[in-house]
Amino acid sequence: MRQQYILPVDSVVAGRIPLVDHARRKLLYNELASLFDLAVHRDSHREVDAIMSLVQRLRPESKTLIDLGCGVGRHAGLLSRCGFNVTGIDISPAMLAVARKRYPACAFLAGDFRSHRLQYQSDIAIIMWTTFNYLGSDDEVDSFFRTVSANLVEDGLLIVDVANYAVKNTATYERHHANVRYSLNLQISKSLYHGHNIGLYRYHIRDLATDNSIDCIDQEIARVYSMEDLTTLAAPTFSVKGAFGDYDLSAFDRSRSPRIIVAYRHNAIK
Ligand SMILES: C[S@@+](CC[C@H](N)C(=O)[O-])C[C@H]1O[C@@H](n2cnc3c(N)ncnc32)[C@H](O)[C@@H]1O
Repeated sequence: MRQQYILPVDSVVAGRIPLVDHARRKLLYNELASLFDLAVHRDSHREVDAIMSLVQRLRPESKTLIDLGCGVGRHAGLLSRCGFNVTGIDISPAMLAVARKRYPACAFLAGDFRSHRLQYQSDIAIIMWTTFNYLGSDDEVDSFFRTVSANLVEDGLLIVDVANYAVKNTATYERHHANVRYSLNLQISKSLYHGHNIGLYRYHIRDLATDNSIDCIDQEIARVYSMEDLTTLAAPTFSVKGAFGDYDLSAFDRSRSPRIIVAYRHNAIK
């Protein structure tokens, strides 16, 4: 197993190494994929409740949903249990392997959400939890929206969820989590650098059955997007129907909200 993953930040920020290549190589989406839930420690039910509320408000008749950058399927799996016919798309074979094992009712496809065309058009597309931030340039964002447009019905609903880095911009903290098999101590330090969120993650993982432990260093580099970016880059194919500041669907406030959650309508292409 690789125990360290670090790319030269300046090369990534300058576009010499594409962000998608960074995502492809991260330990968390490869060797550590089976520990993803433990490491990220997210409240998936709360996030799925927010998606369900938006669907009820904006497109209640929807039946099909695509989860772009679905990872281990934590949203896809719960949404399929809510009655949707769900397809998850991801570039990471390791993440997809975990998702397929956990949620056999969903279809999980290997693909790049900047270009992957489905054989049908879905009612809803979601891209959750800062996955959109792996789009490294305006051109890539344009390819993303064109691809989503091809994969969504006219009048379909697109939900984009990113961190609001105007608020969440620098942090150093430590977390400790455990499941029946592993305990994990995680030291995280994050900062902003030339419009990117740069994070360093130090993992100490202990196998509780054998008492063996391992230390790893992983990296996070993600491009920062503002509400203005998310509005102008999506137009005219996608128009904003609502902007929310957290999974409680409170109104987005640039200087306070931890997240930017945008619900878009897919407009007809004339
Ligand atoms: C931060 S994780 C989030 C996963 C999931 N959405 C969640 O909230 O748990 C980002 C995921 O996006 C995937 N990813 C990054 N760039 C991608 C791309 N261009 N196409 C498809 N998947 C991508 C990664 O492999 C990873 O599984």
